[in-house]
Formats: sequence, C-alpha cells, structure tokens
Amino acid sequence: MKKLVKILAIVMVVALSATLLYACGGKEDDNVLVMGTNAAFPPYEYYEGDKIVGIDAEVGALIAEKLGMEFEIQDMDFNGIISAVQNGVVDIGMAGMTVREDRLEHVNFSTTYAKGVQVVIVKESSEIATLDDLAGKLIGVQEATTGDAYASEDYGEESVKRYTNGAAAVQALQSGIVDAVIIDNEPAKAFVAANEGLTILETAYADEDYAIAVAKENTELLEKINQALAELTADGSIDAIVNKYIPA
Ligand code: ARG
Repeated sequence: MKKLVKILAIVMVVALSATLLYACGGKEDDNVLVMGTNAAFPPYEYYEGDKIVGIDAEVGALIAEKLGMEFEIQDMDFNGIISAVQNGVVDIGMAGMTVREDRLEHVNFSTTYAKGVQVVIVKESSEIATLDDLAGKLIGVQEATTGDAYASEDYGEESVKRYTNGAAAVQALQSGIVDAVIIDNEPAKAFVAANEGLTILETAYADEDYAIAVAKENTELLEKINQALAELTADGSIDAIVNKYIPA
C-alpha cells in the first residue's frame, strides 16, 4: 500500500511539473510583443551586424510601442513561423508573409501593410527569358514560401529544389545547381544587387499581400494590431519606413 502511495505521489509531481513546464513553454513575459521572422529577407528583415533590421522589424517595433509593449524578435526558419504563432512561442509572425487561404486555416492575418510580387531570378547568361522557358528547368525556392507553392503547382515537384532561405537559393543559382529562383521582388532586387551576373525576368509571376499572422484565438491582439496599423498608415509612419528601405 505504502508503495502505491509513493508511486501515486511521484506520478502527481511529474504531472504537475509537466503542466508548469507547459505553461512556461511559451512566452515568459506578457508585456513583450514577440515577433517571429526569418531574417534572411532584405529589405523586410535582415541582419545588420547582430541586429535584425528592415521594414517588418521597424513596423513591428512601432506596433509594440502603440500597444505599450516591449518588443522582441525571434529569428527562425520561415517554415516554422506559423506553428510558432499557433503554439504561442511568438505573438506575431511578420516575415513578408503572404496572405494565403491555406495559411488562414491555421492563423489569422491582420490587414495588409505591404504588397509583394513573385519574380524569377536567372543568370544574365541564361537562355530563360519567359515563364514558359522554366518548363523542364530546376527552380530554387525558399522552403514553404509562396514561391515554393507556385513552382511546385506549375512546374511539378521534381522541378523544385527547396532551400531554408532565399540567400541559399540564390547561392545555388550562382553555382549552377538550379537554373532559376522564384522569390519576392524586393529581396530579389537585393540579392541581384549583391551578386554579380544575375538578373530578374521582366514577366512577374504573382501579386501578393503581406500581413501579420496572429493565433486564431488571439482575436484581441489582432484587433489591436489592426488598429495600430490603421493609425500608422494614416500618419504616414509606414510609408516613411518603406521609403527608407525601398527608395523610389
Ligand atoms: N512572401 C512569401 C511567402 O509568404 C515569402 C516570404 C519569406 N519571408 C522571409 N522572411 N523569409 O511565402
């Protein structure tokens, strides 16, 4: 009997600590707005030294300020951002993230704060001149992005090579492992500027809206963010940030 009580006690302690651990598993401080991003996506988020800067980093900081919260950025694979939002590891996902039906099944999106266009990067010497020329070619993408989805749908899984970030895909293009990279236009421009011999095809692939991902149950935060975005749009703050990173 004594033994049984002992075992029961142990089980209860384990269960209790598991619950406590779980409760602390997400965010520690409630007055911090934690943004999950993938900081390999200039000019939206990228490293300057050891600091993450960019349009999303600055807009996110202004939103936190409006909400009277501290602000923190967590860098992760793009592929992990939506589940980090769902699990409460971060409060918001802000990563030049396109509003998509399949994502809306898992998270809510704020009002959109920027537009994106999917484009195709090739080598200047490439024979690829139009989207049709991509047939039968190997296309590099950042895993789990819209570029990945479009390329896979339109040219078939076997034509797509996935990389954890855009820079790695562009590196693969440079070294001839892939024939083209499909990625958002602003990062594309940044990558082309930073690498010799690359160019962007004139024909764009798809237009997109960027928005902030918030957990389904966190409707109060979503409303506050939309309110903050409306104010920051109305007073020109967002335009000022965009113009700073994307000179006309
Ligand atoms: N707009 C694309 C998407 O939502 C790509 C975003 C990639 N963002 C990043 N920070 N790496 O799928």
